[in-house]
Amino acid sequence: MNVVIIGNGTIGSAIREALRRVDPLLPVPILGRGDTIASVADADAVLLCVKPHQVLEALELLAPSMPHGSLLISVAAKTTLASLRAALPPHVGVVRAMPNLPVGELAGMTALANESAPEHLERSEAIFGAMGRTVRIDERLMDAATAMNGCGPAYVYLMVEAWIDAGIKLGFSYEVARTLVAQTMLGAAASVLASDEHPAALKTAVTTPAGCTIEGLLQLEDGRLRSTIVRAVLAAAGA
Ligand SMILES: NC(=O)c1ccc[n+]([C@@H]2O[C@H](COP(=O)([O-])OP(=O)(O)OC[C@H]3O[C@@H](n4cnc5c(N)ncnc54)[C@H](OP(=O)(O)O)[C@@H]3O)[C@@H](O)[C@H]2O)c1
Repeated sequence: MNVVIIGNGTIGSAIREALRRVDPLLPVPILGRGDTIASVADADAVLLCVKPHQVLEALELLAPSMPHGSLLISVAAKTTLASLRAALPPHVGVVRAMPNLPVGELAGMTALANESAPEHLERSEAIFGAMGRTVRIDERLMDAATAMNGCGPAYVYLMVEAWIDAGIKLGFSYEVARTLVAQTMLGAAASVLASDEHPAALKTAVTTPAGCTIEGLLQLEDGRLRSTIVRAVLAAAGA
């Protein structure tokens, strides 16, 4: 599949890095502002990776060059399928995607929406599925997906940072503390994905009666970690 990326910023560059890792021989043009858009003429899929307020200007430039049967995948937050369709000729398919930055490590999480065109979703899944996991969602949940998985890595980085501070206070070097924390997060996430158990059951397995885990958990509950996380995600979603 010929893929062209528009927008060489944070997420566009991460997606290009991911596609290079998947196939180092695959040319994946990434176009910045002012670059010639001629390369979209052969594209099966164009990934639009510009800020929401830059979308319409970019589509105005792209629309005349988009080939018949091609697909425009927009990762822009808050930019509806209807507004994308209105800016493009009818022979171009449209999908909204909400990926996150770990696509660069082939560990991304991408939500995809376009209820009316399964073949376009399949093409989008082929692209983003190579860089991590994908889910199909209703378009009405795209802003919620932005808050859940699009913003999500930032929540985790904040927790990692604090947890490393605890390790340093306990006497570990930064490098050792970082490895202890990041691999523990990775392992816990892997066990959630691999298991049908509710996270509460997985937590119980770690919590020996009268042991030290329950001491830590009580502090987290006293600090309202649970409601803080819920409210943080709701605030990011504007809910
Ligand atoms: N960052 C994330 O983790 C993340 C995750 C999921 C989704 N998103 C979405 O991805 C989009 C981009 O976010 P970002 O963080 O990557 O922003 P960014 O770093 O500002 O990247 C946007 C890039 O697009 C370029 N651009 C603007 N108009 C263009 C045009 N007409 N042709 C070619 N390039 C153009 C910009 O150039 P200039 O600097 O010259 O304007 C900039 O380099 C946003 O809509 C956001 O909602 C981001």
